[in-house]
Amino acid sequence: MLSELRPQVLSILNTNAEVSVRLQEICNLLQENISYYDWVGFYFKNGNKEELKLGPYAGEPTDHTIIPFGKGICGQVALSNENFVVPDVQAQDNYIACSINVKAEIVVPLFVNGENIGQIDIDSNTPDPFNSEDEDFLEFVNKEVAKIL
Ligand code: SME
Repeated sequence: MLSELRPQVLSILNTNAEVSVRLQEICNLLQENISYYDWVGFYFKNGNKEELKLGPYAGEPTDHTIIPFGKGICGQVALSNENFVVPDVQAQDNYIACSINVKAEIVVPLFVNGENIGQIDIDSNTPDPFNSEDEDFLEFVNKEVAKIL
């Protein structure tokens, strides 16, 4: 159950470690404990540029460390301010492939004081694995992360 990880999310965020270390630990926690979360990362708005910059992540390195707003699933979420659940990445026209193994993706925006300042991005090698429980859980993670930013 995803909700069983909530206390661990809170205990990671409640330490005094640097923010980047705490975010890295969140990525590791999710990637290691949720079987269908194969890549977990945070992207943040890059200063005042209309682009996202990769932050802490767990999983294979990606070439896509900078993503312009509007490009790919991530870039679309930067503009829409809404969760984007992709059951089948091959069915998407505006998609940036990171690995040929990825079948599905979910991106949930991260708000600080109502402003969309980044997102959490999950790639899955399992087809169509995400449901509303994932959305609830990732919204919870982002709300808690927002408190330390
Ligand atoms: N697939 C994403 C790009 C980021 S990678 O998944 C790490 C997208 O289409 O925006």
